[in-house]
Amino acid sequence: MLRVGVCVSGGGTNLQAIMDKMESGAVTDAELSVVVSNNAGAYALTRAKNRGIPAVCVSPKDYETREAFHEALVETLDGFRLDLIVLAGFLVVLPEELIEKYRNRIINIHPSLIPSFCGTGNYGLAVHEHALERGVKVTGATVHFVDEGTDTGPIILQKAVAVRDDDTPKSLQLRVMEEAEWEILPEAIDLIANGKIRVENGRVVRV
Ligand code: GAR
Repeated sequence: MLRVGVCVSGGGTNLQAIMDKMESGAVTDAELSVVVSNNAGAYALTRAKNRGIPAVCVSPKDYETREAFHEALVETLDGFRLDLIVLAGFLVVLPEELIEKYRNRIINIHPSLIPSFCGTGNYGLAVHEHALERGVKVTGATVHFVDEGTDTGPIILQKAVAVRDDDTPKSLQLRVMEEAEWEILPEAIDLIANGKIRVENGRVVRV
């Protein structure tokens, strides 16, 4: 059974999708061991508590230095003996120590088709604003392993979503979530839990 920890900063709709698909049996061989947030007010923590899942806040506000915050974050995650860390809208730049320690065991959901609209400054609603400004006709979401870069790690799954002429950043954000993110993030966890993928030469291949 894969022990999964989910890191969140906000509403937690992706966390909800993961919990729902674990409960329905669409995701197998995986259990949610903890939900960690940097933000005490994150509704995602309430979603976890409602399901009886340990919900922990590790806020930078409670530490004097960035190093001390990073240390606490790594210690907290280590404490749950996780096989996989899922970043589901986690707006914290990860300490390199964590990335190194959990190489190919951290995944992230990004609301665009990487390499479009990713990297520094592209998170949340801004991603969809940039996609609409550029006038793309297709966007989507990507699940990838996390490496030292921003949105640069090996790609696991992508799903495309059509842009409509009357889309606003908000309407596009919601459709990308509904049609892509909430599908491919749980699916990626299921693939990993069932040993169906591995990283080879920086790319994800099916086993
Ligand atoms: C999601 O759209 C996720 O793709 C995005 O934050 C949102 C979190 O929503 N992540 C990024 O932009 C990371 N670069 P949620 O809290 O409702 O799951």
